[in-house]
Amino acid sequence: MLRIVKISVFLVVIQNFIADYKHFVNSQSSLEELELAQDMILDDIRAIRRKVWINVATDFRTLEKKIENVEKRCLRDGSQQEGNKTYTSSGENASWNSLNKHDNALNLLLLKGLKEEKMKTRQLEETLKQSINDITDMRSVLNEYKTITDKLSADLSLTEQKLIMATQDSENLRQNVLTLQKVQDNLSQDLNLVNVSVHSKQDKTKYMIHKPTFISEWILMRAQDIKFADRTVPHGLGTLPYKVDVQIRPTSGPNAGWIFSGDSAIQSDDDIPGEVYGGVVYFYDETNVYIEVPVKNNGRDLGVTINTGEANNRRLGNNHQTSLEAYVRVKAWAPSDFPEPDMKSDWLPLDITNKSQTFYELTHGFNDYPGLLNIQIRRRSNGRSLISEGLGATLIDRPYSGAGGVVHAFNENVTRIWAGYVSNTTGNYHYRLLGNTDGWGHSIIRSISAIKGHFRVLAWSQFKVTDKSQDFEKHEENHEFAEWSVFKKFSPDFDLFSFYVQANDGVNKGFRFPGYGNSQSIDSPFGGAVYAYSPNGDVRIWRPNPAVNGYLVHVHDPYGNGAYAQASNDAHYVSTLLRSS
Ligand SMILES: *[C@@H]1O[C@H](CO)[C@@H](O)[C@H](O)[C@H]1NC(C)=O
Ligand SMILES: *[C@@H]1O[C@H](CO)[C@@H](O)[C@H](O)[C@H]1NC(C)=O
Ligand SMILES: *[C@@H]1O[C@H](CO)[C@@H](O)[C@H](O)[C@H]1NC(C)=O
Ligand SMILES: *[C@@H]1O[C@H](CO)[C@@H](O)[C@H](O)[C@H]1NC(C)=O
Ligand SMILES: *[C@@H]1O[C@H](CO)[C@@H](O)[C@H](O)[C@H]1NC(C)=O
Ligand SMILES: *[C@@H]1O[C@H](CO)[C@@H](O)[C@H](O)[C@H]1NC(C)=O
Ligand SMILES: *[C@@H]1O[C@H](CO)[C@@H](O)[C@H](O)[C@H]1NC(C)=O
Repeated sequence: MLRIVKISVFLVVIQNFIADYKHFVNSQSSLEELELAQDMILDDIRAIRRKVWINVATDFRTLEKKIENVEKRCLRDGSQQEGNKTYTSSGENASWNSLNKHDNALNLLLLKGLKEEKMKTRQLEETLKQSINDITDMRSVLNEYKTITDKLSADLSLTEQKLIMATQDSENLRQNVLTLQKVQDNLSQDLNLVNVSVHSKQDKTKYMIHKPTFISEWILMRAQDIKFADRTVPHGLGTLPYKVDVQIRPTSGPNAGWIFSGDSAIQSDDDIPGEVYGGVVYFYDETNVYIEVPVKNNGRDLGVTINTGEANNRRLGNNHQTSLEAYVRVKAWAPSDFPEPDMKSDWLPLDITNKSQTFYELTHGFNDYPGLLNIQIRRRSNGRSLISEGLGATLIDRPYSGAGGVVHAFNENVTRIWAGYVSNTTGNYHYRLLGNTDGWGHSIIRSISAIKGHFRVLAWSQFKVTDKSQDFEKHEENHEFAEWSVFKKFSPDFDLFSFYVQANDGVNKGFRFPGYGNSQSIDSPFGGAVYAYSPNGDVRIWRPNPAVNGYLVHVHDPYGNGAYAQASNDAHYVSTLLRSS
């Protein structure tokens, strides 16, 4: 019985195997397992068969023999005592009848037992036969699968061979795909860049500039008065501004109500008798804006705060004004007040003693005039850095003038940067990057004399004109007139007004040079146009007098070691107005 249970269990196992096998027809190992199981079952069947046909039969024979012996003995005893007489066997009394009865019962029992055993055996035989049939069925199923598997494995090895051959091609293909992928990556990177630049352009067209984060009060400044000659104005941005605009408002005179601009370098000193010099200069850093007006140092007290260049007929124009005092206000735009610059150069070295570090031509590549371009010059000293901005012309061509500053101009594709070249800086103070402080301010900038420094360019392509009826850029070809009604009313508090001289000829043809807020010129030749603007959008211009070697465009030889040196009066005016949002 146990064996049959075992077989049944195996059958179930095999059936499961077959079920699994159908799923894993490709797997050689499951076929092997199946065959192994089948072999084990056949072994079991053989063992059972042996037990039934040999062991059981032997048992039967032994039992039959025992019965035979008992019968024989009974017959022999019966023949000795007739009738229902008792007989003595092993010292016991028993009647023949009861013995006979016992014998019959035993016989019956034996027959019944034999019958039962035979029946069981027949059943076992039947089950075995069924098992063998099942096994045969399984074997044929197995063979079927084996055939399929063999075919499959043949197919497989064929495919494998094909694959190996294909792999060779595919390796080449893979390389090509990898290359393609790289190209695609590069393309998508480029696309992203384009997308970014398109988006930043689109973003930019959303607004022009924001209002300056910092706008100071109007501060009174007075030349030649130590208490009012220099100011430190904390701008509170916590970072270097992208642009600082210093506005100057006369306290009285013909230009009361007009606004002049601070310039960001010293270009004259107190050394020349009879020459009125001055204006307002400014420098800044991450914390403050420093404003200076003239204070006599070792020369003459002729420095002023408002200076349109009337002295010695140096500049032509109406409403000339020379004033010792004025109100001054600082506007500082944080980087976040502008869109991201479309061009932002690294900080590049300037060294007035090194010819190759006194001229640069850097590409912005807008193929159009920038909406705004600012250059910042940084001079480090004693762990402090002081920033100035670029100028629009060189002034004095006199070796010991103490004049300095960095000049710049730009066209549709490039910006040019000129610094003065001085081969030997011993015993002189001219062409320093920020100028020299002889005759200026008091303590703040005292002793700056920058020979080396760095500069960077920040440039934005055209900003969106929010109101189409309001121009943002205007040209005036006639440079001999003194007043130009250029824009409509605007906000001098928040907007940024710029004024340029654009060369019509020469090596800098098409380049725009920023105008000056004051005439610092005290010698000839000199250059640059001085301008002031009104909140009504008008501009007043004091141009250099050609009769005293004044030039609208003026970059003289020691600057840039002579690169693109030019002195010209063939130029026109350009005004731009960046309205803040
Ligand atoms: C023996 O015993 C049986 C049953 O007990 C009986 O039928 C038979 O008559 C007896 N024979 C003799 C000779 O007593
Ligand atoms: C054996 O049989 C005899 C005669 O029938 C009888 O006297 C005797 O008691 C019997 N013995 C036993 C143990 O029954
Ligand atoms: C992808 O760009 C990198 C860096 O610009 C360059 O080195 C590489 O050759 C380019 N790859 C392809 C496939 O153009
Ligand atoms: C371009 O950039 C914008 C904004 O970053 C994004 O929504 C858009 O899905 C980008 N387009 C592509 C083609 O990458
Ligand atoms: C001058 O400037 C060039 C260009 O920046 C540089 O390579 C060179 O080393 C400089 N020479 C000196 C003496 O500093
Ligand atoms: C600016 O540069 C581009 C590309 O080199 C050129 O096609 C274009 O003519 C230049 N524009 C000017 C005004 O020089
Ligand atoms: C630099 O100038 C000083 C003062 O003029 C002079 O003494 C010195 O010799 C000059 N040095 C050189 C190298 O020319």
